[in-house]
Amino acid sequence: MKLKIVTSNPGKAAEFREGLNHLGIEVEHCSIAYDEVQTSELEEVVIKGMEALRSKGLSNFIIDDTGLFIDALKDFPGVWSAYVQKTIGNKGILKLMENEENRKAEFRTCIGCDMDGETLTVTGVCKGSITQSEQGTEGFGYDPIFTHDGKRTFAEISLEEKNEVSHRGKGIRLLVEKLESFRSAETERN
Ligand code: IMP
Repeated sequence: MKLKIVTSNPGKAAEFREGLNHLGIEVEHCSIAYDEVQTSELEEVVIKGMEALRSKGLSNFIIDDTGLFIDALKDFPGVWSAYVQKTIGNKGILKLMENEENRKAEFRTCIGCDMDGETLTVTGVCKGSITQSEQGTEGFGYDPIFTHDGKRTFAEISLEEKNEVSHRGKGIRLLVEKLESFRSAETERN
């Protein structure tokens, strides 16, 4: 099986490649621009993105939409994570979290997959907390300020280790399970 991963983010593409190759699925990275709607649900962003890509004639592809949900900030930046990363960035988040004792946060990622015109979606979640300062140089986005184990940030662990515990890694494994049951149901039908 071969799937196209549509993203302009090389970090995401590398995580999908590692996670899916590991499970025997070949990945081709495509950087096709499409309109991302701004709504309050990650899944809605993904479904609309999939419709936009299908209207460009694309099939058998994956996209994801991810957000960082911070408890003390009432789930901000959430679905606005891309805008917030581009504007105030990690330093801005740390500033908003100054003197805040409750540092609980979670990453959520909704992955959408087009498989022969069918829509499959899954959501992966990773619970953790926001650190007091930026640490590490690996990964991308909010990785330097997010820790899943209270010891190291996602920017201080390898891509392979991040995939074992992260929202995206969990989402990838859920998707592969779904794809396998979809394919065996398809084989039974034919
Ligand atoms: P989007 O899914 O590309 O819209 O991502 C929203 C924002 O979250 C962007 O600023 C990404 O850089 C960031 N982001 C997405 N996935 C991750 C991740 O796994 N770690 C850290 N930041 C992420």
